[in-house]
Amino acid sequence: MHSRRALLYMPGDNWKMITKSVTLGVDSICMDMEDGAAVNKKAEARETIVKALQELDFGASEKLARINSIGSGWEQADIDAVLPHHPDGIVIPKVESFEQVEWASKIIEAAELKYGWPINSVRVLIGVETAKGILNLKEIASHPRLDAIIFGGEDFAASIGATRTKDAVELLYARQAVIVACAANDLQPIDIVTIDYKDVESLRAESEFGARLGFMGKQIIHPAQVEPVQTAFTPSDEAIAYAKRIVETFEASQKEGKGAYSLDGKMIDMPLLKNAQKVLERAKA
Ligand code: COA
Ligand code: MG
Repeated sequence: MHSRRALLYMPGDNWKMITKSVTLGVDSICMDMEDGAAVNKKAEARETIVKALQELDFGASEKLARINSIGSGWEQADIDAVLPHHPDGIVIPKVESFEQVEWASKIIEAAELKYGWPINSVRVLIGVETAKGILNLKEIASHPRLDAIIFGGEDFAASIGATRTKDAVELLYARQAVIVACAANDLQPIDIVTIDYKDVESLRAESEFGARLGFMGKQIIHPAQVEPVQTAFTPSDEAIAYAKRIVETFEASQKEGKGAYSLDGKMIDMPLLKNAQKVLERAKA
């Protein structure tokens, strides 16, 4: 699993944006055939993504392709077009059932066998962004092929008839449902897009809040969003230093036979140790 994903989308038919994206040092680049590509640009998006996979050096950025949702009628042609060119992962939007993940998983595994690629070398990331998807998370998230679950805030708001607000209270339940499903299955949860991409302060606040909730990354749509999101989803120096102190002092207190002890006037016990270890894990990766 990736430790952090700032996941940048661009319309798959937009060669200019794709070539720009490989210069940004962003964690993940997601070339989109779904909602970012107009209905009359689906074929062009497939061709452009294939060209990018063949010709561009993505450096350390993960190269992903988002297909159209299963049942849209485009999904088969989308996956058939891009998969032979070995993207690092396929993103499936609007997933609502385990069977939909299984559909993609079978196709990808067949390609891995056919081309002699290592099994699981093409990752599967899914969007869960509808009422049905959230209800079925328990089954969906248990699919062994999954790497990450992306929560789509705008689609979800549309799905339940919620009005979007700046602090996104209307999304909190579903965001946390995705985080819990991911934590239970060792998957990476990826947070909503901040669509107001000119408002960097809101982006920072929303990213920090998402990181505190437990998200390990966030979807982005503009180059200006790369740095704020990557910063927010990287443990700060203070957080790392504090986590190290907890790990050290915890060990010492265990040796003294104390399960709980005091550090800077705060009670420290096992759950705080586990949280500190998580911080250090994320900092390392
Ligand atoms: N990826 C890569 N490069 C991008 C980009 C993206 N998502 N969005 C903008 N850029 C580039 C532009 O091409 C431009 O490049 P240049 O300076 O070399 O000319 C530069 O960044 C500045 O862009 P800007 O003029 O501020 O943005 P815009 O008005 O051209 O586009 C959006 C604004 C929102 C339409 C555009 O950012 C976009 O299409 N984002 C992705 C949307 C998407 O994929 N949605 C579906 C998934 S949610
Ligand atoms: Mg969406």
